[in-house]
Amino acid sequence: MSTLPADDFRTPTANGSSLIRQVEETDLPELVRLDEEAFPEGPYPFFTLRQLFDLYPDHMLVLDGGENGLHGYVLVGMPRDAHRCWILSLGVTRDRRGRGYGRQLMAAVLRQLRDDAVREVLLTVEPSNITAIELYKSLGFAAESAPRKDYFGPNADRLVMTLHL
Ligand SMILES: CC(C)(COP(=O)(O)OP(=O)(O)OC[C@H]1O[C@@H](n2cnc3c(N)ncnc32)[C@H](O)[C@@H]1OP(=O)(O)O)[C@@H](O)C(=O)NCCC(=O)NCCS
Repeated sequence: MSTLPADDFRTPTANGSSLIRQVEETDLPELVRLDEEAFPEGPYPFFTLRQLFDLYPDHMLVLDGGENGLHGYVLVGMPRDAHRCWILSLGVTRDRRGRGYGRQLMAAVLRQLRDDAVREVLLTVEPSNITAIELYKSLGFAAESAPRKDYFGPNADRLVMTLHL
């Protein structure tokens, strides 16, 4: 398991003790809770997170606050030997937002993807999610000219953004 100190990245954590690390199987119940908090209108069911963990354990990172639990996570769908991958999810608990954790999680996973020789990283974001769009733009992601209509089904338009590493 790789463990990356969170303060390797741009913003140090509040108490210096949070770590960005690879997910472990025992994190799954808390990850489900975290995902429900981050995405109350459409969280992953447990079985989906379980299967994503089975498929992509190396590219599922959590922000571990020790006895305070998990504060965030990022997940990448990473086909084997692919030069192109998708960020599938990024979430930070409500009480920890605006402290640089989302940026740190993205920086950690993008560093990992660069090391894996990935060339192109894609993601989708709700067109009204200005916070996430601003974060992704600041990391170098470019948005398509318009959201794709009904991308995730009726009335679930999404903006597709791409970063070339
Ligand atoms: C999107 C999310 C992960 C950002 O995490 P965060 O830890 O709050 O973000 P950070 O503190 O690292 O801020 C990173 C950047 O986001 C943007 N940002 C943060 N808060 C913002 C706000 N209130 N308004 C506009 N932009 C904002 C800024 O560009 C900020 O850059 P800065 O470092 O120059 O301030 C978090 O808000 C979240 O979990 N939201 C719910 C789930 C979600 O929408 N996930 C994204 C799905 S695509």
